[in-house]
Amino acid sequence: MSAPLFGPPSEQPAVFVPLGERSYTIEIGTGNLNRTARFLLERRRARHAVIFTDEHVEEPHAAEVVASLVEQKFDVDLVVIESGELSKSVETAQELWQKLLDLGADRRTVVIAVGGGVIGDLAGFVAASYARGIPFLQIPTTLLAQVDSSVGGKVGVNLPGAKNMVGAFWQPLGVLIDTDVLGTLPDREYRSGLAEVVKYGVILDAEFFEFLESHLGELNRRDAATLRRVVARSCQLKAWVVSQDEREETGLRAVLNYGHTFAHALEALGGYSGLLHGEAVAIGMLCASRLAEGLGRIDAALTLRQRQLLTALRLPVAVPPEFDAGALVRAMSHDKKAEQGRLRFVLPTRLGHVELVGNVPEAEVFAALEAGDEQATA
Ligand code: NAD
Ligand code: GLY
Repeated sequence: MSAPLFGPPSEQPAVFVPLGERSYTIEIGTGNLNRTARFLLERRRARHAVIFTDEHVEEPHAAEVVASLVEQKFDVDLVVIESGELSKSVETAQELWQKLLDLGADRRTVVIAVGGGVIGDLAGFVAASYARGIPFLQIPTTLLAQVDSSVGGKVGVNLPGAKNMVGAFWQPLGVLIDTDVLGTLPDREYRSGLAEVVKYGVILDAEFFEFLESHLGELNRRDAATLRRVVARSCQLKAWVVSQDEREETGLRAVLNYGHTFAHALEALGGYSGLLHGEAVAIGMLCASRLAEGLGRIDAALTLRQRQLLTALRLPVAVPPEFDAGALVRAMSHDKKAEQGRLRFVLPTRLGHVELVGNVPEAEVFAALEAGDEQATA
């Protein structure tokens, strides 16, 4: 099995996610939020839309989505949720179920998530569970959501101390991506999304990794044509993985978690308020790469190349000194990707290829973390 080829640039790329009757299209454009109503009508004869968004996205992006729907005579309700990870909770989900009931929502209603991964995961979960499931559309507004969370149907909320613990696989009707919305995204959030983009190159596509290395200027200034290409390729790679292992049963979908075992531990120990997810993933990818080096699976040049690209994209690459290696290893054993407490990692074998490796000796994990600390203070 090999990933689809990295094709020539296309002005308005679209990516198909082939999942039988749950198949859908990801449309990627610039300035295309005004197509929301048409995009929806092409997929569903709906007249009632409930938009879930957050306070940072309401103006101007959700407002543009509302305008497009109102123009096409939709009955539209807009629900604005407090921004941040704390909203991805059972309590907020309950409020939103009640809201849908109060608004007279039924299976002919379409929920539209306009926001980052928090809104997408939360709105998707509410749509998956209300009235045993109503349709929803993803309109992702962070780079992370455009290249990762809006694609593949994982939706859910957190329990206190257990991230993404309650959820479902619920595929959207479609994903509408407008790279223009990234213009208002804070710098750290934008760069956090770039870490997931780099991840796709490392795990599946050496040519894409080289493309990123040679388009640093365009990426750093958020050039629209480059972003369309980067978002499209990331979505294409994720769609390919999801289409082969929708429910993470064969181990293929797990390759998307490269760097994430370390990252989840860094996020959990930081109380989810220090590093952003993509920042933790950037550090985690380098830990995983050093681990692969320690296990003799790759040489140091591959770790260095990832480090150089991530640094050029102004992402952190070293474990911050305040983190204790022992506490990180303990947190990793509790990660839901660990198998009965035994440590499993997605590790590179060469650029563009990774493997799931079980039973990794703890001493090697400590070595990978501690090497990171040395580099942090170098
Ligand atoms: P987020 O949704 O919290 O958005 C980050 C911040 O950016 C928020 O303050 C938000 O209000 C703001 N924002 C969003 N779009 C904006 C815009 N265009 N302009 C200005 N501000 C904007 O965070 P995120 O990084 O998008 O997503 C993180 C969440 O995604 C986590 O909960 C994570 O678990 C989840 N996730 C899910 C999957 C999946 O497959 N479902 C994959 C990866 C991550
Ligand atoms: N973000 C990992 C996945 O969707 O499987």
